[in-house]
Amino acid sequence: LVQGAMAKLVPLAPDSWIPGGVPDPLIARKHGLIGAPVSRLDGALKVKGAARFAAEFVFDDMAYAALAYATIPRGRIAGIDAAAAEAAPGVVLVMTHRNAPRMNTPGVFGSSPTAVGPADLPILQDDRIHWNGQPIAVVLAETQEQADHAASLLCFTYEADPSTTTLAGAKADGIEQGLFMGQPLLNEIGDADAALAAAPHRVDNLYRTPRHTHNPIEPHAATIAWIDGGLVLHDASQMVTQQAQTIADVFDLETDQVRLSSPYVGGGFGSKGLWDHQILGAAAAKLSGRPVRITLSREGVYRIVGGRTLTEQRVALGAQADGTLDALIHTGLSIMTPHNNMPEPFILGSRAAYAAPNITLQVNVAKMTMLANTFMRAPGESVGTFALESAIDELAVDLGMDPIALRIRNEPDKDPTSGLPFSSRHIVEAWRAGAERFGWAERSAVPGGRTDGEWQIGMGCATGTYPYYRMPGAAARITLIRDGGDVRAKVEVAAAEMGMGTSTTTAIVAAERLGLPLDRIEVGYGDSLIPGAIMAGGSQQTAAIGAAVIAAHNALVAELLKLAGNDSPLAGLSPDDVGSEDGGLARLDDPAMRESYASILARARRDDLEVTAEASPPLELMHWSMHSHSAIFCEVRVNSVTGETRVSRILGSFDCGRILNPKTARSQFRGGIIMGLGMALMEETQFDERNGRIMNPSLAEYHVPVHLDVPEIDVIWTDIADPHTPMGAHGIGEIGITGVAAAVANAVYNATGKRIRDLPITLDKLL
Ligand code: MOS
Repeated sequence: LVQGAMAKLVPLAPDSWIPGGVPDPLIARKHGLIGAPVSRLDGALKVKGAARFAAEFVFDDMAYAALAYATIPRGRIAGIDAAAAEAAPGVVLVMTHRNAPRMNTPGVFGSSPTAVGPADLPILQDDRIHWNGQPIAVVLAETQEQADHAASLLCFTYEADPSTTTLAGAKADGIEQGLFMGQPLLNEIGDADAALAAAPHRVDNLYRTPRHTHNPIEPHAATIAWIDGGLVLHDASQMVTQQAQTIADVFDLETDQVRLSSPYVGGGFGSKGLWDHQILGAAAAKLSGRPVRITLSREGVYRIVGGRTLTEQRVALGAQADGTLDALIHTGLSIMTPHNNMPEPFILGSRAAYAAPNITLQVNVAKMTMLANTFMRAPGESVGTFALESAIDELAVDLGMDPIALRIRNEPDKDPTSGLPFSSRHIVEAWRAGAERFGWAERSAVPGGRTDGEWQIGMGCATGTYPYYRMPGAAARITLIRDGGDVRAKVEVAAAEMGMGTSTTTAIVAAERLGLPLDRIEVGYGDSLIPGAIMAGGSQQTAAIGAAVIAAHNALVAELLKLAGNDSPLAGLSPDDVGSEDGGLARLDDPAMRESYASILARARRDDLEVTAEASPPLELMHWSMHSHSAIFCEVRVNSVTGETRVSRILGSFDCGRILNPKTARSQFRGGIIMGLGMALMEETQFDERNGRIMNPSLAEYHVPVHLDVPEIDVIWTDIADPHTPMGAHGIGEIGITGVAAAVANAVYNATGKRIRDLPITLDKLL
């Protein structure tokens, strides 16, 4: 697998994949690694328990932290009785706003390129309460149990201020245009209202999605020490560099005085960023003079780590009798807080979905007194596709048309809102392949047409979508190291691995590019000391890493040629004349003219060679409309007596460019689909409108799918490379969840004739 398939040398064409170019030669699978199923390189470490997570690091003389949380939505702390807590066994200190070190307020995400705070609130700096659940004290003790016990002894009295904890109240307070990353969430093409009014066929409905809370297997945790005036944090992070920078800003430190390391993360999905606990832990460590481990309980995650906010979405479609869309309207409301930046941008997936000549898309926001919401797997698209793809299904029913045929009828030939050409869109292929594999032809066109005893059986489908992104600023450092008569390479990227296989894919890409076997590559990541900045967000990390590795490899080739000198068979050649193959450089037009890396280093009397290079800017995004796509097929069985819904079969047919590692990709798609099943049928954060308290802060009361809820998930893909991305690949992290909730809802309709427009589809809604 690794050594084999040394196919023909393909010319390296640096930066050739930028607009107007040809695909990077990597996507030609030169060395047979791209597209081969490779198991996670860190899999054995994790299975054996040898991979150390943030809460498993140990410092000498470490103290353990527990948090106390406010129990009113808004107001002031009037009194604190800490006597019992301070006298409790093992207590090191109780930290409140009265004795906490002075700290700067973290910048909120989107307000500056590096700020990653969820909210721009001061953390334990004053007596103000901004949400029900806000941390208001930290107890440090010699053991976790002692800290938890002492925290339970703290007593607070409050003076309440007015708050807005009802949806109706939020609407009454005022509705504003929603902004996402500083841009208005608004698109207007043609006159959608007029086109809708004139259309012979119309559907026009309201869809609702609830709050969702993040539930990664690993609750948030950090182990923190002040060493020589700087901060060392073992954290669970999907944005290592950016988080270190924000923490440095909070504590008035230089960037290089914060070292944040996060080699393993037990799931993130948007939640593993900077929250109050890391800052509180660092502050408590400063105040006590001792290292601190702070681990959030599951309840703690619900209290201080934001999730997905609720939405109310209107989708109105106007069409001709043959299904041709005249109007597409997707508007509505998202709820956020006065102190964060993150509406649920549910129209993003509707911008390039269908070829309607008249389109209006808009997200408005209203504010509630609550925990700041944040990114959650496919923010926007997850809930937006529930509304849009349910509406498409409703239109298909109205027209008496097959819903797949309706979608294909409205397939755009260019981006309908930006006007840009698509870089690579093969969603029709995904639909056709999926329909055949799933047996779509067996679906009853009439709702309620298939039963099995008391079970009603239905099939549904939906399109999923998630944009291709590539954030600027990615870099890679490659170090070639002599190792006996051979070489190995260390490839370092300031990236994060949340368990999805990033480090493995990075090794594959580097091995392919360097012409080295996989076992000669060591990947470094998850450490703020590594140059560049890459984050595991927006499904763009792998593209960013690939572009950086390509740039660093190009720089390495240039350095090797300089070292090779006049005695090398490569003497006088320029980087454009050579490529990497089989552990060395070879002349493109005469591969026999070659020299191994080991030989070049040996002659130059070098033990190693290190280069660092930054990825080319993501210009492709300016020239093309770029997206991952999916066609989701689902079969459900709904019990006509109890209303229970079981998903019996599900297929994801994906079009996400070239699939780099089929093994880890298949798992990512499945994980996303499972999260979509939770969104469809179970997940709902219960928010008490009387006082803004989250009422179900545990996995006993907030339901996510367990194995028995998950059928065998079939996954296929087109594997058609996008010629305009670094490796032909698109992101695959967030596309999996999109479309799933609509596919389930559409299948429930097909089974029962009942259209559920409020998630989750619980049994009470079906009786
Ligand atoms: Mo994602 S919601 O960008 O981790």
